[in-house]
Amino acid sequence: MSHSTRTPLASRKSQGLKGRITVPGDKSMSHRALMFGAIALGQTRISGLLEAEDVVNTAKSMAALGAKVERQADGDWHVEGVGIGGLKSPTHGLDFGNSGTGVRLAMGLMATTGLTARCVGDASLSKRPMGRVTTPLAGFGTRFEATEGNRLPLTIHGAADAKPVTYTLPMASAQVKSAVLLAGINTKGVTTVIEPVATRDHTERMLKAFGAKLDVKEVEGTRHISIEGGHELTAQDIAIPGDPSSAAFPMVAALITPGSNIVIENIMLNPTRTGLITTLQEMGGDITIENRRLAGGEEVGDLHVRYSRLRGVRVPPGRAPSMIDEYPILSVAASFAEGTTRMEGLEELRVKESDRLSAVESGLQVNGVFTRSGKHWLEVTGGGAPGGGQVVTHMDHRIAMSFLVMGLASRIYTRIDDSAFIATSFPGFVELINGMGGKIAAEVV
Ligand code: S3P
Repeated sequence: MSHSTRTPLASRKSQGLKGRITVPGDKSMSHRALMFGAIALGQTRISGLLEAEDVVNTAKSMAALGAKVERQADGDWHVEGVGIGGLKSPTHGLDFGNSGTGVRLAMGLMATTGLTARCVGDASLSKRPMGRVTTPLAGFGTRFEATEGNRLPLTIHGAADAKPVTYTLPMASAQVKSAVLLAGINTKGVTTVIEPVATRDHTERMLKAFGAKLDVKEVEGTRHISIEGGHELTAQDIAIPGDPSSAAFPMVAALITPGSNIVIENIMLNPTRTGLITTLQEMGGDITIENRRLAGGEEVGDLHVRYSRLRGVRVPPGRAPSMIDEYPILSVAASFAEGTTRMEGLEELRVKESDRLSAVESGLQVNGVFTRSGKHWLEVTGGGAPGGGQVVTHMDHRIAMSFLVMGLASRIYTRIDDSAFIATSFPGFVELINGMGGKIAAEVV
C-alpha cells in the first residue's frame, strides 16, 4: 500500500473506557511463522496471524521466493514450504514496506541459499541501518550491494556453500540474533549467537517447535544460542496469541482515562515482552493477569485493567529489551503520573521506524508536557497533559497510536499528522478504542 496522502486524526477527552476486547495477533510471531513455514517441509497452518501491512509484505516476499502462501476463507493461513535450501531468486524486488523485522529476518533466511534478491522498503525503512545484519551475514560468505551507509535498497547474493559463524551481538537486537540463526539453518556445522542481554526469544522457541537442532546455554550471564545446520524443518500448526505491544495502547488508555475498566483477552505474556506491564504495575497501575495458560508454546493471559492514579518511577536500562517498542506509550502514561519518570538505556530507540526518542519528546512537548532528555535517556514530568498539540508521526505507527491515546485523557485534544501507518501493525485500532467509548475522529468536534 502506498501512503502518499496523509490522514490526520484527533482524539479528545473521553468518559471511562469499558469492555472486553481482543487485539490482533503478535507481529513478531506472525513474521516468523510465515518465514519458518516457507522453509519447512509440508504445510504449516497458522491461526491468528496478524493481517497488517508489515506481515502481508512478508507473506508476499515468501511467495515471491517460491513458497505457496494462501489465506483460507476462515482466516487461517497455509504455507507450503520449499525445504531449507529451496528458496529461489525472485523475479522482482522484495518490498518490505515499513518493516525492519521483515527485511532483516528475510535477509538471514536468504543469506545461505545461493539466490540473488533485491530488497526495498518505504522511506522510513530506507533510513534504517542494515549494516548490523550485513556484517554478521558476510561471515557466512554472503555478499551485499547496499545503498550508501548500508541502507536499502540492497541486493543480496546468498552463499551457496556457507561457512558457520560465531557472533557476539554488539547491540540488544532480536532481529540481528534471528538473522544469524536463520542463516545457520542451511549452513553445515554449528552457528552460535552470543547474546549479552536477553532479547525476545520467539525465534528460538518457534524454531525448536519446527524441529530445529537448537540449543540455548547460559554462560556467565550471557546466552549462547547454537543451531546445527543442514537439518530440514517440519511444518507446524501455529496459533498466534494477541500482541502485547498492541495491547499496550488500550492498556494505557484505560489506566489514564478516569472511570475505565476493561479486559484485554488472550495476550502473549512471554517474559521477554512484559517489561511494560511490570513498569506500569510499579507505577501503581491496576493490571491483573487472569486466566494464565499456555498456548502454542507461549504463556498467555487476559489483562484486566482499571483506571489508576499513577506515580513516576525510574525504569532501569536492563528492562529496555523487554519493552523496547513500548517507550512511546509508557511516556504517555508517565505524563499523567504524579512526579517524574526517568527511562534509561534507550539507545536502540534512535533507530526504530523513526528516531522514537526525539519523536516522543517533541510530541509530549507540543502537548504541554515537560521533558528532559540525553542521548540515551528521557525524563517525563507528570501531572497530566494539557494537549492541544499537533504531533508529527514520522511514518511511525507507535508514535501515531501513543498520541491518540494521550488525547483521550488530555485537557483539550491531541492531533496527529498521519494515521496511515497504524495499518502496519494494528488494523482496526481506532474502531476498537472508539468501541470502548474513546473519542477519536477525523476532526476535533
Ligand atoms: C523485533 C525486534 C525488535 C522490535 C521489533 C520486533 C522482532 O527490534 O523493536 O518491533 O520481531 O524481532 P530489534 O531487534 O531491532 O531491537
